Amino acid sequence: MCGIVGYIGGKKAIDFLLDGLTKLEYRGYDSAGVAVNCGENIFVEKAVGRLDSLKEKLKNNLPVGTIGIGHTRWATHGRPSDLNAHPHSDCHKNFFVVHNGIIENYLQLKEQLIAKGHKFISETDTEVVAHLLEENYHGDFVLAVRDVLAKIEGSYSLLFMSKFDPDTLIAAKQDNPLIIGIGKDGENFIASDIPAIIPFTRQTYILNDGDIAIVKKDSISFVNRQGLPIDKKIFHVKWNAQAAEKGGYEHFMLKEINEQPKAVRDTISPHLNGKVTFNELNWNADFLNDINKIYIVACGTAYHAGLVGKFYIEKLVRKLVEVDLASEFRYRNPIVDNKTLVIVVSQSGETSDTLAALKESKRLGAKTLAVTNVVGSSIAREAEFVIHTAAGPEIAVASTKAYTTQLISMFMLALYMAQILKSVPAEEIERLIKLLKKIPAQISETLSDVEPIKTFAQMYGFNDDVFYIGRSLDYCVALEGALKLKEISYIHAEAYASGELKHGTLALIVEGVPVIALATQKSVYEKTLSNIKEVKARDAIVIGIAAAGNTSLEKYLDHVIFVPETDELLIPLLAVVPLQLLAYYAAITRGCDVDKPRNLAKSVTVE
Ligand code: M6R
Repeated sequence: MCGIVGYIGGKKAIDFLLDGLTKLEYRGYDSAGVAVNCGENIFVEKAVGRLDSLKEKLKNNLPVGTIGIGHTRWATHGRPSDLNAHPHSDCHKNFFVVHNGIIENYLQLKEQLIAKGHKFISETDTEVVAHLLEENYHGDFVLAVRDVLAKIEGSYSLLFMSKFDPDTLIAAKQDNPLIIGIGKDGENFIASDIPAIIPFTRQTYILNDGDIAIVKKDSISFVNRQGLPIDKKIFHVKWNAQAAEKGGYEHFMLKEINEQPKAVRDTISPHLNGKVTFNELNWNADFLNDINKIYIVACGTAYHAGLVGKFYIEKLVRKLVEVDLASEFRYRNPIVDNKTLVIVVSQSGETSDTLAALKESKRLGAKTLAVTNVVGSSIAREAEFVIHTAAGPEIAVASTKAYTTQLISMFMLALYMAQILKSVPAEEIERLIKLLKKIPAQISETLSDVEPIKTFAQMYGFNDDVFYIGRSLDYCVALEGALKLKEISYIHAEAYASGELKHGTLALIVEGVPVIALATQKSVYEKTLSNIKEVKARDAIVIGIAAAGNTSLEKYLDHVIFVPETDELLIPLLAVVPLQLLAYYAAITRGCDVDKPRNLAKSVTVE
């Protein structure tokens, strides 16, 4: 994964390139670079490290050209370094390219190009693309790019600039996102994601796999890989520009945690009309009765949301649900046929493994449904059915509002299926809908009591290990809480199903180890309590998360965080909030870079 930007128009390209890269830095931040066509020469600058290092290098030397490309990198082939930073070029510095993805056959191509006399300076897969362009260019830029695309295998979004064609940028997409922003005054923009372009335009084209865009300052046209023209519809972006900014918060993560009441409300409201509606699905009993198995497939936080989704569907619809990590799913020859429904969950809609699992499911004949936050994303376009979460842009690497909106979407999906199949009495559905409507306000209530969480984060933020325990849905939330803590504070955090403790993990519970015990599930409350006593007996420091009113728990714990009361199916939407905040403040206590944790990037578009 990486971020790509491009500008062609009448203004200094560098201004858009640096602004756009700042917005896309969440996609990768181990090095960055720009190339700007300045007439006689093409100006290139690259810097290892954060974008600020590149800005520092450019401070007194900003190029004036009006056509340029830029890149922020998350290394796959070749360590982070100035040389491996993009843009990459051919032997004579006539062609420049930025790339997001992996060229799988690059070693073979590199050997062939070396044999023809090409000199490589980087360790990247991308550099072969620039040399291939040099090799195939005979005066026709578009034709040369098409020839290059015919030779490369893998996933990519690519943006090309040629010294010989100073009025054209060419973009191409396969499996990784790329959008074109249509400017108003003789200028156009290219970027990997919408936040880079919304300050300038809301009119966009979203590239599909196989599309090639020929972008000039006054025109944008499209051909396919055979060179045949394509007609594309303009996509109007509805996000407001501020939504992609920090809005006064110190970090995107904190802003996004606090946006959850709105995100959840916006996700619920289009689907409640006395009952739960999904016009985009329009399923009926015949369709649902034909499904004998459901898979939920996703990665990371979205996978944890899938674990909760399993509970919802199994409890309310009484259909078997398996939850799979997308990176495992397609390699284990899953039992999928036309009676299987595969639900893929992905905030970005671009996660490579999830997209591949979706494609594999389609190939095997499954019905497919995507739950995604990004309209027009690859996953949204690939799936037969789509439910959009309305979280708005999620910029922080640590996913928060995407998780709660995924949970509420899957809860509504389960209710929708239950309504059709009449697997739950109408009064019970009515009761759950009433409770569901209260969730946004209850999240706000949970967010209003931050001080104790800050204090716990300061007290325990320097411990080496933290354990999370819970049963049933509490275990699913524990997994998400532990992931949040690990990824942004670098504390070793593990989540265990409480009942598993005595099968091994209890050996790690010693005096002073913090244990976060989730005890919100009434149906297993007594069992959870006995597990809490087990860890307390080993002198662990136990912080409980419980439903308001459960004061009897306090005497067994060192601290308790109460969340508002609701049905046990819905309480994960509340219980996760203090865990997100705990992770956030622990990371702050440790001085970590919350929005850009080490080694990670927002959108994992490589395998
Ligand atoms: O965009 P996706 O929902 O497909 O992303 C999946 C994971 O990469 C993502 O949830 C990741 O685990 C987050 N960093 C967790 O906070």
